[in-house]
Amino acid sequence: MVKRNQDMAKLQAGYLFPEINRRKKEFLEKNPDAKIISLGIGNTTKPVTPHIDKALSNAAAGLGTKKGYSGYGNEQGLTELREKIAFKIYNGTVSRDEIFVSDGAKPDIGRLQLLFGNDAVIAVQDPAYPVYIDSSVMYGKTENYNEKTNTFGSIVYLPCTPENNFFPDLSKIRKVDVIFFCSPNNPTGAVATREQLQQLVDYARKNKSIIIFDAAYSEYIQDSNIPKSIYEIDGAKEVAIEVNSFSKSVGFAGVRLGWTVVPNELKFDNGIQVRQDWDRVLTTLFNGASNISQKGALAALDNRGLKEMEETVSYYMENAKIIKATLQELGYEAYGGDNAPYIWARMKTTKSWEAFDQLLQEANIITTPGIGFGQSGEYFLRFSAFGHSEDIKEAIQRLKVHLK
Ligand code: MLT
Repeated sequence: MVKRNQDMAKLQAGYLFPEINRRKKEFLEKNPDAKIISLGIGNTTKPVTPHIDKALSNAAAGLGTKKGYSGYGNEQGLTELREKIAFKIYNGTVSRDEIFVSDGAKPDIGRLQLLFGNDAVIAVQDPAYPVYIDSSVMYGKTENYNEKTNTFGSIVYLPCTPENNFFPDLSKIRKVDVIFFCSPNNPTGAVATREQLQQLVDYARKNKSIIIFDAAYSEYIQDSNIPKSIYEIDGAKEVAIEVNSFSKSVGFAGVRLGWTVVPNELKFDNGIQVRQDWDRVLTTLFNGASNISQKGALAALDNRGLKEMEETVSYYMENAKIIKATLQELGYEAYGGDNAPYIWARMKTTKSWEAFDQLLQEANIITTPGIGFGQSGEYFLRFSAFGHSEDIKEAIQRLKVHLK
């Protein structure tokens, strides 16, 4: 028999969301009539708007014609789309050639790991989107949690809690090579201020680190003082890669489309452009994003599409507002939800999985246990605002009864 990849064996447990689904399935087997409401995975529910839908349908129909058919496209994405992202999202501060269209932020996060040597030390916020850690472990980062240094072999955890305003004290961390940073944050819903992001960029410049800035929720930022992109920060182009996605802003979670920005200025220690290697990774492992999805994204970035994007975001943000207000009324500490579609609530003295199970059993509501995002997530639950508004209203009534 073939030996198992030992890095796979190092993974702590199954991926978080399948475990939640397993518990849900088990519950439904015993309670087949229960009407479950999901405030769990950040999965969009609002239909794609008619304008974007039309662009997707036209692209699909076109494939059935000689004129509209296209086979492989550029691995980096449609030139027109790269240009549109550069101008509509980045106001031209990033050039078309620095943008690489993909099948989503999550697969890009996985592939990005190929750029760094096996000995690279990775830092992640704690709590964090599990993909940063799990993909790091799959690529050979080591385990063995060390309580004294709060390190996990070559993974360094940066606790981000209400006590530090969800931003790590960068003056206290050792030199790391790659820092995953997500703002608006999944799972806490916290957003980093301009000053905080400047500290992050300054740290990376001083330590010659690379930031992987996950901006998948940037369209949810309502406060105009909060940067939507790391490239709004001085010096960021020398030290940061940014990943983003159409999943949460226009509901392409299932359509699949995202992009990664790798600036020309970003170099490895030997002077080679990171962009050059990223291009090599994509041309080898990826055949370009779906041509249908890309046509949909072009529509999403025209004036009508952008307006509809705002409406989609407002719809979910209204949900976020009422979830947060309800939790606070019920006497819970609740964070996020103002510039992000996630609310992060402390369950007082109840541990995350216990609180998750209680809400599932009693209120038939699915949430996400904070511990699934890291040690600092213990005692927290994450509530997602991506449901239908009528379901959210019903969920709130149930919370008022069952969450005391
Ligand atoms: C989440 O719930 O954390 C996200 O939906 C997962 C994802 O975007 O992959």
